[in-house]
Amino acid sequence: MGLGNVEIMSTTAAEIICQSKLSLALTGAGISVESGIPDFRSRGGLWERFDPMEYGTISAFQANPEKVWTMFQEMEKIIRRARPNPAHKALGRLQHMGLLHTIITQNIDNLHQEEGATSVIEYHGNSKTLSCISCDRQYRLEKLGEEIPPRCTCGQILKPDVVLFGEAIPPRALRESHELASSCEALLVIGTSAQVAPANTIPLIAKKAGASIIEINVEPTLLTSSVTDIFFQGRAGELVTKLADEVEGIMNQS
Ligand code: APR
Repeated sequence: MGLGNVEIMSTTAAEIICQSKLSLALTGAGISVESGIPDFRSRGGLWERFDPMEYGTISAFQANPEKVWTMFQEMEKIIRRARPNPAHKALGRLQHMGLLHTIITQNIDNLHQEEGATSVIEYHGNSKTLSCISCDRQYRLEKLGEEIPPRCTCGQILKPDVVLFGEAIPPRALRESHELASSCEALLVIGTSAQVAPANTIPLIAKKAGASIIEINVEPTLLTSSVTDIFFQGRAGELVTKLADEVEGIMNQS
């Protein structure tokens, strides 16, 4: 019986990863859904419960920090309970095999780092630290008291070190991720709707540099028909694991 399409594609994708001199991954909220963290734009996603214009922008935070902190609190409760899932583990395996240079993540949940990833660029920051909106002093989330919104010793309110709409991407994250994307040979795009700039330019930069774009998502996205070379439709936990298993199989043969 001949190999089905997915088998052929998955072997090809695995061969691409094995032969690539520099492979990257770009991950979005979809990779953490199986860890219990809802994504933003699927049904039941965060933006269904919190209007992004009222809760997700820096101007909304400046106008009413107490209100935006109700969303931060909700996200923090969900993230605190979350653990890495097989997709995070599979990317960690690829990095430990030396076949995945860097994971560029749009997520703020720290799950790649918790699953042993050796190189992660946090494109939208990380929710584990907070900074004072006035004196910039930084705090670790676990060191904070019960007061909401939390305050700095200078008296001003603290904001999680995450990028809200209207804020700049951390300059180093922007520079490093775009430099890597312009010299990679393979880019895994996992669990992102690719609707938010400038993160969604990373696949375009990689494509322009001649990289193979391998996408994993439960549904087609804005990239699938025009940018993606190999599209695997399904859940990241199963498909990223399958890809890492294929890669490991090829590496063990060679
Ligand atoms: N496996 C694979 N893909 C999944 C899964 C899953 N188990 N569950 C959901 N997805 C897909 C969805 O189909 C969707 O395409 O993940 C994608 C999640 O898209 P978004 O919710 O838009 O999240 P993301 O692309 O990460 O959003 C980018 O927008 O709101 C801002 O700052 C926020 O970082 C976020 C950015």
